[in-house]
Amino acid sequence: MKELFECLACDKKFPVDVFNTFCPDCKEPLLYHYPEKKRTIHKDQTHAFEVFLDFLPFEEIDHSLLLGEGNSPLVKLKRISKGCHVPFMYVKDESSNPTGSFKDRGTAVAIQKVISLKIDKIGTVSTGNMATSTAAYGAKANRRTFVLIKEDISTEKLLSCGVYGPVMIKVAGDYGELTYKSFDLGRKHGICFMNAVDPFRIEGYKVIGLEIFLQLGKQPPDYIFAPVSSGGHLIGLVRAYLELKQQGLIERLPIFIGVQAEGCSPIARAFRTGESRVERITKANTVAQAITNPDPPGGNMILNMIRQNNGRILAVSDADILAAQKMLAEKEGIFCLPASATILAGFFQMAKTDIFKATDKVVLVVTGTGMKNMKVLNPSQMSFFHSSLSNLEDTLLSTIDLLRMSVD
Ligand SMILES: Cc1ncc(COP(=O)(O)O)c(C=O)c1O
Ligand SMILES: [Zn+2]
Repeated sequence: MKELFECLACDKKFPVDVFNTFCPDCKEPLLYHYPEKKRTIHKDQTHAFEVFLDFLPFEEIDHSLLLGEGNSPLVKLKRISKGCHVPFMYVKDESSNPTGSFKDRGTAVAIQKVISLKIDKIGTVSTGNMATSTAAYGAKANRRTFVLIKEDISTEKLLSCGVYGPVMIKVAGDYGELTYKSFDLGRKHGICFMNAVDPFRIEGYKVIGLEIFLQLGKQPPDYIFAPVSSGGHLIGLVRAYLELKQQGLIERLPIFIGVQAEGCSPIARAFRTGESRVERITKANTVAQAITNPDPPGGNMILNMIRQNNGRILAVSDADILAAQKMLAEKEGIFCLPASATILAGFFQMAKTDIFKATDKVVLVVTGTGMKNMKVLNPSQMSFFHSSLSNLEDTLLSTIDLLRMSVD
């Protein structure tokens, strides 16, 4: 049977074409179209792809392409939730994926598809987590991998991607245009560019939402918070619950809250002002570096999906992001990227209005590990003590007293 992509904006279907994943008519991102069928969750299986195979765009899994992605923990936030009277607060911790971010979910699905279509070159346009993830899966699949990066990429990012041995090309020029150009060149030279709102990537992100449903005992949470940049991640999460509802497995959808950093918040701005289309912004400036797409290709779709389901797109300040990052680490032992900490900052912003009930289940999707961006940490804010060897016991005792005072 011929596989199809669909455009939600103009309600048209197109044959699957991995070399251009935008609607030729309205330029919105295309999504994978599933023919109507009853889908089962194979709970007895181990890998997330096996458990949710009926919800994925392939019928067989090539295990040689997997790196141990998925099945991330849903961790209850005991201490933070106590402080804000929302007892059922959880983190879905995607930093446990092979390259430390949720991007592996998308890459793992996209590469299954690309290899099954006998395409032997892959690529991506990214400056960070997606580049690293694509390079890792490209290495595992033994495929030539092309990563198009910004001229001013930091050494840290260059190294974390470069270690997997992809072809890296630093491109000077407009980053938005680069994405479109990558498709033209990809088609010409047989390179499948798996970019941020790639339909197969989105199917991978969907699995995060499906896992949350299972981990909560086959219940939808009341709220899901997710950081938003290009939009692929949140679109995947919404799709998970739309499909569960369509299958009669849930009766209601969660309320989705997308969170952006104030310094790059084109979707939040359009949401606030009631626009139906997202205007690109000219300059991004935030500590949440991983979520700085000034021209998000999934923006219009997100606005639509979120509004239909009573969700919101929030913007949070850098100060609140850093405070949330610190709080997650100190109170819950979860060290995440500033981009991921936006969701806790967003939660507190909403909590000010007393919107949450004590029975609400709130899930925050932590998208990436803080180990990837240590530069945002300020050593001068970390206290430590000095001691001679002979004085060590006294020093230790004085710190024990200090700690006793601060434990809550
Ligand atoms: C850590 C992290 N969180 C969230 C996002 C946002 O995902 P999306 O671009 O699919 O909206 C990104 C995107 O790069 C990311 O790297
Ligand atoms: Zn269209």
